[in-house]
Amino acid sequence: MKNEGDWKVFRDRWMARKNGVLTQVNELWLKAAPSEAKREVGLAVNEIKVQVERGVTDAKDHYENVATLRATARDRGLYPLDISLPGVRRPIGAEHPVVKTTNEMVRVFQKLGYSVADGPVVETDYYNFESLNFPPNHPARDTQDTLFIAGQQAKPQRERLLLRTHTSPVQIRTMEKMRPPLRIVIPGTVHRNDPPDASHSPMFHQIEGLAVDTNITFGDLKGTLDHAMKEFFGSSVKTSFRPSFFPFTEPSAEMYVSCFICGGSGRRGNDPCRPCKQTGWIEILGCGMVDPNVFEFVKDNGYDPRKVSGFAFGMGADRIALLKYGVDDIQLFFQGDVRFLRQWA
Ligand code: PHE
Repeated sequence: MKNEGDWKVFRDRWMARKNGVLTQVNELWLKAAPSEAKREVGLAVNEIKVQVERGVTDAKDHYENVATLRATARDRGLYPLDISLPGVRRPIGAEHPVVKTTNEMVRVFQKLGYSVADGPVVETDYYNFESLNFPPNHPARDTQDTLFIAGQQAKPQRERLLLRTHTSPVQIRTMEKMRPPLRIVIPGTVHRNDPPDASHSPMFHQIEGLAVDTNITFGDLKGTLDHAMKEFFGSSVKTSFRPSFFPFTEPSAEMYVSCFICGGSGRRGNDPCRPCKQTGWIEILGCGMVDPNVFEFVKDNGYDPRKVSGFAFGMGADRIALLKYGVDDIQLFFQGDVRFLRQWA
C-alpha cells in the first residue's frame, strides 16, 4: 500500500456500504441466523467489525508513515535508491581556533627539530613547583593562583596533587626520561584560580619549549624565538627582550613582538591601536636560561649543570589566538557556540 488511493481501495473492499466484506458478513451471517442464535452471532459480527475498522485505520497510519519516510529519504538524497550516486555529504567540523593556533606554533618548532612531549594535568607539588626551584612556602608560588585537590593534608607536601598551573613540570618529567641533548615543545591545558573575564579563564592553554645541550647560550634562545615568531606571524615582525623573573630560569626575560596589527606604529589611522595599547609591542612569552638548580633535580640522568646548559620558554596559546584572530573575549573560546566556531570552518 503506497498511497491514499491504494488505501481507499482497501477500505472500500472491507467497509463499502454496498458490497463491502462487512456488509456481506452482515447479510450472510447475521440476517440469515436462526433467531435463537442471533444474539451470539451479533456479538461475533460486532467483534469482526471492530477488528476491520482497526485494520483500516492502521493501514492509513502505515501508508502515511511510509510516505513520511520516503519524503525524508528523498530530502537526504537517499531515494531513489541509486548506489552509483555520490554519498551523503556530512559536515566534517573544523579545528578550534586555539587548537589551530597551537598546532601551527608546534609545527614551527617541529621544523626546527623539536619533538612534542606531554604530561599530566593533575600534577604533584613536586613537579609543578619544587623541582622548578619554587621552594616550599616561597612567595614566588603566590604568582600562580593554584587550584589544589582537596583532602591531602595527610600527605607530604611534595606529593600533594594540584591542577598544573603551567606546562613547565613537563620539562622535569621529560628530563627524567630522556638524556640530553633535548629539544621539546609541550602543548597543554593549565589551570589557575582566576575568575573568568574577557582576558582570563580558569582553564587555558600553554605551549612550552625546552632545549638542552652543551654550550646553549642566550644567543641561541634569541635566535630561535626570533625565527619562530617571524615564521608564525610573518617575516616583518621584530622581537624585543626585556628582563623578567621566573624561579626556574636565570636570567629570565619577557619577549615582545612588534604589533602585527598596527605594524608597530601604535596607531591605526587616526585611532589608537588597542591590542598593543599604543606601544607598538605585544608581550608574547616568558623565557630564560634553565636555572642550574633545576638541572640539579635531574643531574643523575646526564644533566650535570657544569656540563649542560639550556633555554626554556612558555606562551599562552589562547592569548595568541585572541590577538591573531582579533577576538575580544576569551570566553568565546570555551562556550562552544557553533555560530562563533563556524568562522574557522
Ligand atoms: N611557566 C611560565 C608561566 O607560566 C612561563 C615560562 C616558561 C617562563 C618557561 C620561562 C620559561 O608563566
